[in-house]
Amino acid sequence: MMRPQVTLRQLAEMKAAREPIVMVTAYDFPTARVADRAEVDMVLVGDSGAQVVLGHDSTVAVTVAEMLVLAAAVRRGVRSAFVVCDVPFGSTEVSDEQAVTTAVRFVKEAGADAVKLEGGGPSRLSRIRAVVAAGIPVVAHIGLTPQTATALGGMRAQGRTTESAQRLVREALAVQDAGASLLVIEAVPAEVVDVVLPELRIPVIGIGAGPADGQVLVMHDLLGITEGKTAAFVKRYAAIGEAMVDGVAAYAREVRAGVFPAAEHGYAAAPEAVEAARAALAQPGD
Ligand code: KIV
Repeated sequence: MMRPQVTLRQLAEMKAAREPIVMVTAYDFPTARVADRAEVDMVLVGDSGAQVVLGHDSTVAVTVAEMLVLAAAVRRGVRSAFVVCDVPFGSTEVSDEQAVTTAVRFVKEAGADAVKLEGGGPSRLSRIRAVVAAGIPVVAHIGLTPQTATALGGMRAQGRTTESAQRLVREALAVQDAGASLLVIEAVPAEVVDVVLPELRIPVIGIGAGPADGQVLVMHDLLGITEGKTAAFVKRYAAIGEAMVDGVAAYAREVRAGVFPAAEHGYAAAPEAVEAARAALAQPGD
């Protein structure tokens, strides 16, 4: 039986029932199908795709056009999970109007259920209000916000100093007041998140931020596709990257050894078709 569509109401009920919400990123049709078949509650078309599928050093480079292609492919693969799309850096910074225009594109052209906006400062609150007023649910994202990591002093945990912990609490309350439906908190000590959690009616999804109301991880990190070092908050559940390399290397070995393709990987031809092919070679003009 097909799982029913996950809704915002259902996510709020899960928080109330203390049922952990599971979110994972996806960037194309196959990863969307994997997430949906695994019955996660939410799929995030993260701008982390800039790094894990487009090969950039940070999330900053990805464009709206690129994100829309990824998001539409994910939408085609997801049947029941709630689909959230990151709006990339530069597509909401200029004005509320720009933020609404961008968010509308993700809903109309890619079928997003909600958009995710990084940051909780004054201009970000204005953007959240504007997008919510346009009828589009917003997932806020505070703590470590990779789009503006340079301003935060690099890709480092937040909420660890007096000032930073207070900012985290204030921003969490402010994005809720601005109308966000959910909140992602990244790379913040669980003790700091726990201070504000009881004051938040909206579900809080953690990534390196303690248990909160649910978790999100980058699919390529948790499956072991990402090469090299990952953040401290990543847990690897599989070694798919190695399995992929092994599979492609085995294919390369068999092609080079003349083992692949074998007869069963081809098509049979009627003898007269082969004869006709020879005749065509003998009389190429006919
Ligand atoms: O882009 C992304 O994948 C994210 C998650 C890490 C929360 O924003």
